[in-house]
Amino acid sequence: GKGGYDHYMLKEIHEQPPALRQAISGRINELATSVDLDVDLPEAYLQSVEEIQIIACGTSYHAGLYAAELLEEHADVRVSVEIASEYTFNGGRDPWRTLVLAITQSGETADTLSALREAKRSGARTLALTNTLGSTVTREADDTVFIRAGPEIGVAATKTFVSQVATVTLLTVYLGQVRDSISTENASELLSSVRDLPGAVQQVLDQEQAIKETAQAYADSDSFFYIGRDAGHPVALESALKLKEISYDHAEGFPAGELKHGPLALVTPNTPVIALLTEQTRPEKTLNNVKEVKSRGAPVIGVSSDPATTSHVDTTFDIPQCGPMEPVVANVALQLFAYYIANEKDRSIDKPRNLAKSVTVE
Ligand code: F6R
Repeated sequence: GKGGYDHYMLKEIHEQPPALRQAISGRINELATSVDLDVDLPEAYLQSVEEIQIIACGTSYHAGLYAAELLEEHADVRVSVEIASEYTFNGGRDPWRTLVLAITQSGETADTLSALREAKRSGARTLALTNTLGSTVTREADDTVFIRAGPEIGVAATKTFVSQVATVTLLTVYLGQVRDSISTENASELLSSVRDLPGAVQQVLDQEQAIKETAQAYADSDSFFYIGRDAGHPVALESALKLKEISYDHAEGFPAGELKHGPLALVTPNTPVIALLTEQTRPEKTLNNVKEVKSRGAPVIGVSSDPATTSHVDTTFDIPQCGPMEPVVANVALQLFAYYIANEKDRSIDKPRNLAKSVTVE
């Protein structure tokens, strides 16, 4: 059942601290220096990989974009992230030096399975990241890592997104160590950040009432823009997707610097802008973009752990510091924001119109 919550989505938002603990349980050593992920792909192969191609759809694609930020920085590998329905294996790439990572919560998404099959036909090795034991992707990929988030009933993915990001962060450290490309300091920073994530997410959940009030205040807006840089960018995309799915409001995410190259034309006093001002995502640059939208009259919500940002925005969702995982913590605040806007409008939150939990057609 819904465990006393009005919707499965709200229950699943609240289940994120235990879901994250389960995702990392037994996978990080005591000193936060090494990772045990049970990857069966041979180490010699993982050392020879030159390119990782990530294929996924929707929210899982956003987790893939987050993964790319981490893998490029720490695993010394080229990374491409492709929407699975747009994927074609480029014959110019060496399949023996390519690892295809399919990210799919359900393990049954037709577009993702079809891209995975194409990769396999071309001779690439494949790794699946999924939540679902026994799913098709686990049978078809060469190897599987589970995100262990537990069942998700709400159509809008919440706890599975944060668990995907936590798990790909562990995968990044694992690959970085196998490939000898990650420093001890960076490995322990990433692992400590993942370990701090459940507690940090809980601190955001404790601010639910304040986020709800802000959502109610903004519920009548025409359109919502989300901006962020680096790992804040996939979180901007993901937070916008969540809002549009469940509230039916127009919402779009942009790389913060891209706003002035077109979308700024849409900004008015009736288009709130949500700015990811998280640490390690160049918040000082994003604040320049905040100034641009404020001068067009747009109200701005900043999501940040840095009190110095509050004077630049109209409302702050104040989140705890969490190093490289801070954008994930910000995402949780924005899940609640989306939920309470949709709830204010009495939408069918767990089963939005036209959408299915698992999309088994191409
Ligand atoms: C959004 C959402 C969808 C899925 C997408 C991929 O909230 O749930 O965008 O993320 O359909 O599904 P999986 O991850 O099962 O392949």
